[in-house]
Amino acid sequence: MSQVLRGHAEQLYAQELEELKKQDSGKVPANWKLTPQSAVTYLVGGKLKNGFEVTPKYIGSRRLMEIAVATLTTDRALLLYGLPGTAKSWVSEHLAAAISGDSTMIIQGTAGTSEESIRYGWNYARLLAEGPSENAIVETPVMRAMKDGKIVRIEELTRIGADVQDTLITILSEKMLPIPELNKEVQAIRGFNVIATANNRDKGVNDLSSALKRRFNTVILPVPDTIEEEIDIVKRRVESFEKVMEVPAEAPALHEIRRIVTILRELRNGVTLDGKTKLKVPSGTLSTAEAISVVNSGLSMAGYFGDGRLTAEDMAAGIIGAVIKDPVQDKIVWLEYLETVVKTREDWKDIYRACRNMM
Ligand SMILES: Nc1ncnc2c1ncn2[C@@H]1O[C@H](COP(=O)(O)OP(=O)(O)OP(=O)(O)O)[C@@H](O)[C@H]1O
Ligand SMILES: [Mg+2]
Repeated sequence: MSQVLRGHAEQLYAQELEELKKQDSGKVPANWKLTPQSAVTYLVGGKLKNGFEVTPKYIGSRRLMEIAVATLTTDRALLLYGLPGTAKSWVSEHLAAAISGDSTMIIQGTAGTSEESIRYGWNYARLLAEGPSENAIVETPVMRAMKDGKIVRIEELTRIGADVQDTLITILSEKMLPIPELNKEVQAIRGFNVIATANNRDKGVNDLSSALKRRFNTVILPVPDTIEEEIDIVKRRVESFEKVMEVPAEAPALHEIRRIVTILRELRNGVTLDGKTKLKVPSGTLSTAEAISVVNSGLSMAGYFGDGRLTAEDMAAGIIGAVIKDPVQDKIVWLEYLETVVKTREDWKDIYRACRNMM
């Protein structure tokens, strides 16, 4: 097995991409690896004509993925928007892998992201020695994607300062990047586009200017509709975690995953699944990603410090850690949930005990 902790999508799913390409018929947009139909199949999974099974990456609405892919065939960029942990980064990576065969051109947006990290920078030693020249330019992922006709990903776009965000306007509308120092420009090759992600929960984010907003099509990724869907997502992601980390534990029983997802969904929605009991909502977001990490850390506990079978004890610390983000407020919320809901469920006694022991 490869020593890499986390391979790129196009490496991990190379075979799927290859098979999709083989059976692809129809018009492939310039510099795309696949047709838009096949790119969507890569994302949501399906069976090919020759019987080959493509695994689903995104579990949810096929229509949303069609809109996302269709957007990228136009001159508009794509903004994936939604709560934390709704697979925005995950979808963006797989879209780039399916379309450009390369998901590595990425800029992580932070409050400190500067214009140079979007446009280009200078290699100062070269700049001093040779003066401004093409050799002295440090290319950014955006510049490289423009030259190669690929997708560039910008993570957490709204964390970038508003003035720096606006650098993207020329790139998105003129499809070119001026280099005034050299009296030159880089013109984007067909196939170039931008996928940005942003979440709507962070404090201190910078709204997109309306000029920039107009150049993006927004696709909102929702939290999973049904509990079955959410369980399915957790199950699949946990399986791949187990494979990569080689945890010495059994695959978790489905009912354990169901219990965790139930707890997180009930607290997220502020009401029990049967709709009978109203609940207080904790301050953090309890997304599917939290459910995945509760199960993953439980498995590590079970594998290394337990008997290899995931139990309530192994999961308790993870659940409490996911729910209690604010030590005062969330603790009240959690204790109330424990006493009014967990305690009363006949087959949940083990969770109640394990969580009580930890508080
Ligand atoms: N609908 C879904 N289908 C498949 N995987 C999902 C889905 N929802 C969540 N996940 C899983 O949740 C994990 C977290 O997703 P990701 O990091 O992409 O979230 P995000 O939306 O980018 O969050 P943030 O706003 O915090 O950056 C991923 O491992 C992803 O596989
Ligand atoms: Mg993300």
